[in-house]
Amino acid sequence: MKTVISTLTDRRSVRRYEREPIPQADMDLIYEAIRNTPTSYNGQQFSVVDVTDQALKERLYEITGQKQIKTCNHFLAFCGDYHKIRCAARAKGVEMPEFENTVDGLIVATVDASLAMMSAVAAAESLGLGTCCIGYARTADPEAISRELGLPEGVYVVCGLAIGIPREQPDLKPKQPLSLLIHHNTYRSDDLTPDLLAYDAEVTTYNETRSGTKSTNDWVAHIISYYTEAMDYHMMKKLALRGFTLRS
Ligand SMILES: Cc1cc2nc3c(=O)[nH]c(=O)nc-3n(C[C@H](O)[C@H](O)[C@H](O)COP(=O)(O)O)c2cc1C
Repeated sequence: MKTVISTLTDRRSVRRYEREPIPQADMDLIYEAIRNTPTSYNGQQFSVVDVTDQALKERLYEITGQKQIKTCNHFLAFCGDYHKIRCAARAKGVEMPEFENTVDGLIVATVDASLAMMSAVAAAESLGLGTCCIGYARTADPEAISRELGLPEGVYVVCGLAIGIPREQPDLKPKQPLSLLIHHNTYRSDDLTPDLLAYDAEVTTYNETRSGTKSTNDWVAHIISYYTEAMDYHMMKKLALRGFTLRS
């Protein structure tokens, strides 16, 4: 098993997997890591659907276009979840406010589900498995995905995670320097631009020279093209179909 620090600092997304299954003992350790995730107030406003059925994985691939979903061994859908507390409150006759319809309610469940996903990533990577987060599981077609996963009202997909035995070891991607990521006591007040442009140039060089598929992408244009695509996602409307009507 890798150390925690090497697990975190050597991690990279793995998108190609061997066909062999992940031992159940490894999945059990991943489940336990997920289970002990810190959550707001210990409310555990999240759930995970572990998809192993190949036909279902293929359908999720058809919806998202993300090949890793059908080639991985386990596809975990990390969901924000207010269904459980609603059921428990109803059973105990406790009146529950519409917390899930506030922005903070949505943030709380999204943070819980995201931390749970990171627990799974760290556990899986420490066991020598490969992982890739799949945001398209949230954005591609929330209604279709929710139907396929049988999600009740009050449950929405935050992100997917493909896990498998790695069949590739991609180069580590360059990340922003600490000067752009870590601020000491207060956010730095000098001009960020030189560090940002140097990072942008580093990403361009990486994309031109990395092993595997190369590209001429820079960092800024690549990220902004993603934001532009995402302007058409209209997540508020889609979340409304899942029982979330944001008020304030
Ligand atoms: C929330 C989230 C959503 C992501 N969605 C996808 C996705 O749908 N498809 C994909 O191939 N990679 C996806 N990724 C992986 C990122 O592209 C990857 O983490 C990023 O390029 C950095 O590369 P690295 O993980 O190798 O460091 C996602 C990552 C995160 C954290």
